[in-house]
Amino acid sequence: MHYTFALFLLFTATSPPFSLSFSSPSAPAPDRSFKPFPSRSAPQEFIEITHPLPSDYAAQFPTCTRALLSHSFADTINKPPFTTRYSPPSNCPRPWARVILEFHATCKGEQYSRIAGLWLGGCELLRTSTAEPSQSGIFWTVRKDVTSYSSLLARSKLKVTMMLENVVNDVYTGIYHVNCTLFFYNAGAVMVPSILSPHDFNSKLGPQSFKYFGTPADLIIPIADDGEKGHWFRIESASDLKFKKVKFPLNAYRVVLELYVSFHGNDEFWYSNPPDSYIESNNLPTDRGNGNFREVFVTIDRNFAASEFPLPVIYTGGINPLFWEPIVAIGAFNLPTYDMDLTPFLGRVLDGKKHEIGIGVNDAISYWLVNANLHIWLDHKAPRVWARSSVYHYPKLSIDRGEYFKLLDGRFEIKAKRKTKFAGWVKSSLGNLTTAVSRHYGLKSIIKFKNNGTYKLVHQKAKVTGRVQVRNEMLNLTAHVSVRRRCPLDVATATLPGSRKDRYLQHTNLSHLIRETSTGEFRSSLANHQVSTGRMKVKDHSVRSGKANTTQSFSYRDAFACYNRYVLASNGKLVSDKPKPCVASF
Ligand SMILES: *[C@@H]1O[C@H](CO)[C@@H](O)[C@H](O)[C@H]1NC(C)=O
Ligand SMILES: *[C@@H]1O[C@H](CO)[C@@H](O)[C@H](O)[C@H]1NC(C)=O
Ligand SMILES: *[C@@H]1O[C@H](CO)[C@@H](O)[C@H](O)[C@H]1NC(C)=O
Ligand SMILES: *[C@@H]1O[C@H](CO)[C@@H](O)[C@H](O)[C@H]1NC(C)=O
Ligand SMILES: *[C@@H]1O[C@H](CO)[C@@H](O)[C@H](O)[C@H]1NC(C)=O
Ligand SMILES: *[C@@H]1O[C@H](CO)[C@@H](O)[C@H](O)[C@H]1NC(C)=O
Repeated sequence: MHYTFALFLLFTATSPPFSLSFSSPSAPAPDRSFKPFPSRSAPQEFIEITHPLPSDYAAQFPTCTRALLSHSFADTINKPPFTTRYSPPSNCPRPWARVILEFHATCKGEQYSRIAGLWLGGCELLRTSTAEPSQSGIFWTVRKDVTSYSSLLARSKLKVTMMLENVVNDVYTGIYHVNCTLFFYNAGAVMVPSILSPHDFNSKLGPQSFKYFGTPADLIIPIADDGEKGHWFRIESASDLKFKKVKFPLNAYRVVLELYVSFHGNDEFWYSNPPDSYIESNNLPTDRGNGNFREVFVTIDRNFAASEFPLPVIYTGGINPLFWEPIVAIGAFNLPTYDMDLTPFLGRVLDGKKHEIGIGVNDAISYWLVNANLHIWLDHKAPRVWARSSVYHYPKLSIDRGEYFKLLDGRFEIKAKRKTKFAGWVKSSLGNLTTAVSRHYGLKSIIKFKNNGTYKLVHQKAKVTGRVQVRNEMLNLTAHVSVRRRCPLDVATATLPGSRKDRYLQHTNLSHLIRETSTGEFRSSLANHQVSTGRMKVKDHSVRSGKANTTQSFSYRDAFACYNRYVLASNGKLVSDKPKPCVASF
């Protein structure tokens, strides 16, 4: 096999070409690149392994279908996003048991992976990244349960916005053709399983959702940009906080913020960025620094209200592009979102005045794309509710940074912890309910350089435990959910000199596991594990040839459904795909 396709300059969705920072042999850093083209005649399908949606079981026919958009994203960089109009289908009124969004894309030619966002009325419905095409063409489908957006989907004359910044010229020829469609299922149409689980409200990463009451919110308000370049806020640094002013309805009894986040440019591989001191003292030609810690946070009137360690998501051009064909990395097609229960803060915002909701990223460098949806539940039996915040425990982040290096070899270690607790009561027609939200998380992140900087090890392990408890005035627990997440990521890269000065070889092993269990109102467990191994020959900035295997085992279980799957992709082909029978239980 001999490939002649160049990777040239690397640039991500919303930036102009930035200077090349493909790893030099002396300092391997993961990067993104073009993959060499396989010789294939038919278009190839790409997939992200995830569990089926309830509407995928048995013969489920939607009650009605609504085309949301159909557009070809060619040379869209620095142009306004694509927009169109939306009104719900007239022939199937609410309530909907389910609403499913289907995103379908095709592309042919030469192109990088790109980031895209889809918004309805300024509220984001999907954050997705694209697969890298080939001359024979590729296609893929993303399906997401969007039932939690029902109140939005029921509104008429909304603006649909989609941003997919792409560059098309003599070199980059791939145009992304995208169709988005909504499928509405009326009550009775969806039989298996019959309840709305918090899990299905969210992406495949698991039941991180705290929307445990099971009914979609009555109102969704975007915390997002006005939209000249898409509704996402672009964050360039740690001091770059973005705000939106919101007036909360006086009868709001519950509020959950759903955060969308993706990282690009110099922070695309933030978990593997060494500190600036290492880059400067070795004179390395890269801006991918500022260490291997990031934290996304949300503020209300400039007071801290919630935070999260983002899960690493590797886009299809990342690390070794041969790993992600045709199985993409965890979350690449449906980026994880994070639900933050802000109900304890209602006592601070129910005064008829505007309040400032802010989003920022600790330690960020350029750039992050963030925005959020506020899901608000209203008391339909009362014009207003009464609320007060009672517990506000937000200690400073505890972080230890160990830094040792001598020339190109070294070890950088970060240990970070935060334990927060917020509580508040809301007296509505449902009673006087106290919501306590606690979150405990720890992160350990290590980068090691050995063999004169030619061997790089990245290890990151995040542990998160989140709990929401709702009690009545007799202190009886009326609802609760608890989620534990463990997600270790390991990447080992060895860079070897090539046959000539401008060539080198890279061997990479990668393991990414996401394990999540949920207890309380809704019990489930998920283990999603990818293991990749491979090598690539790089000349200048082109992947000339390579070999790669990716295995993925996915297992999900709750009281209604069980799904096990094991796949192996080898050198761009799916060579084994085994669903394993299992039994729903809990
Ligand atoms: C280590 O790498 C640097 C930069 O590539 C090189 O100049 C130096 O000679 C190397 N040292 C050894 C001992 O190989
Ligand atoms: C989008 O839908 C149109 C109309 O149904 C169809 O002609 C086109 O092939 C579709 N494109 C994709 C990328 O699915
Ligand atoms: C609601 O319950 C909390 C805690 O039990 C109590 O402190 C508060 O006074 C109650 N509020 C109302 C309006 O009764
Ligand atoms: C509340 O808890 C008490 C004792 O823990 C129990 O006797 C009572 O039945 C509970 N009330 C409700 C409404 O669940
Ligand atoms: C990848 O794993 C294999 C098998 O354990 C090992 O032999 C190889 O050295 C590893 N490669 C790297 C770059 O760590
Ligand atoms: C990749 O998978 C194939 C098929 O199972 C196997 O023969 C080969 O040894 C694997 N290669 C590596 C590097 O693991």
